Amino acid sequence: MKLGLEGKVVVITGGSKGIGRAICQGFLEEGAIVHFCGRDEKALFAAHEYFAALQEAPKTARADGRKIDVTVPHEIDAWINDIFEIEKRIDIVVSNVSSISVTNDAAAWQTAYQTDMMGTVALINSALPYLEKSKGSIVTISSVSGRDVDFTAPSPYGALKAALTHALAAKSIRANTVSPGNIYIADGVWGSIEKDNPELFKSQMGKNPMGRMGKASEVADAVVWVASERAGFVSGGNLVVDGALCNGVQF
Ligand SMILES: NC(=O)c1ccc[n+]([C@@H]2O[C@H](COP(=O)([O-])OP(=O)(O)OC[C@H]3O[C@@H](n4cnc5c(N)ncnc54)[C@H](OP(=O)(O)O)[C@@H]3O)[C@@H](O)[C@H]2O)c1
Repeated sequence: MKLGLEGKVVVITGGSKGIGRAICQGFLEEGAIVHFCGRDEKALFAAHEYFAALQEAPKTARADGRKIDVTVPHEIDAWINDIFEIEKRIDIVVSNVSSISVTNDAAAWQTAYQTDMMGTVALINSALPYLEKSKGSIVTISSVSGRDVDFTAPSPYGALKAALTHALAAKSIRANTVSPGNIYIADGVWGSIEKDNPELFKSQMGKNPMGRMGKASEVADAVVWVASERAGFVSGGNLVVDGALCNGVQF
């Protein structure tokens, strides 16, 4: 299937590590122009090096990372406006960053709200005029924790993830959510849990009917497709990528 993403301008928050990095790679392999962000300059540099070495990426592909904190709206606004200045278009935005706040104290709720919710609001509001011009699309990364009350409850994580699935679909801009299940990345969340809390890791692994956790690339493939024009009549959806972890039919 040709996705038609060559030369499309894609903005991804948090592309220096984990699922965000795999999403950047997925778009680059389709020939897109990728702008990504993160807070740690070393990680941004490492991601740059990694993307530059990708063998699969066609000539139209290129990536540029910027040090941006999504909790600072004026940083996002300046970043988005700069991208439009440079590229003259923005076709797709992916809101991927989460504070992954899984404690139930007021500070965790504040951080989660500021990061997951307001970071997404700032990204979408800044990009909206450009997406209206390109008739582009929005993808928000939620989680199965927004659908099921799981081991992260009680905490802001699932509540904020549930709120993110109420996406905007107006003025020909498609908006969809992708909800990953347990995604294993050695230096990511589940890699840390495996080391620091082997009991939780074992019990959660046992809940995966496929006998394994997912790969970041499997989430990325779903994001790249749903963002592309090949998913042109898919909007307002929540695409669950969890290997049936939720143990229910997805409506
Ligand atoms: N991993 C899973 O099993 C899983 C399951 C379901 C849903 N998800 C969702 O998938 C998304 C990505 O998760 P992940 O596991 O890939 O996380 P991760 O490995 O921790 O990567 C997060 C990325 O976001 C960046 N970031 C974090 N806070 C930021 C901020 N305030 N401003 C700008 N960049 C920031 C990080 O770079 P810096 O730290 O350098 O800023 C990094 O590039 C999240 O929305 C998460 O809730 C993950």
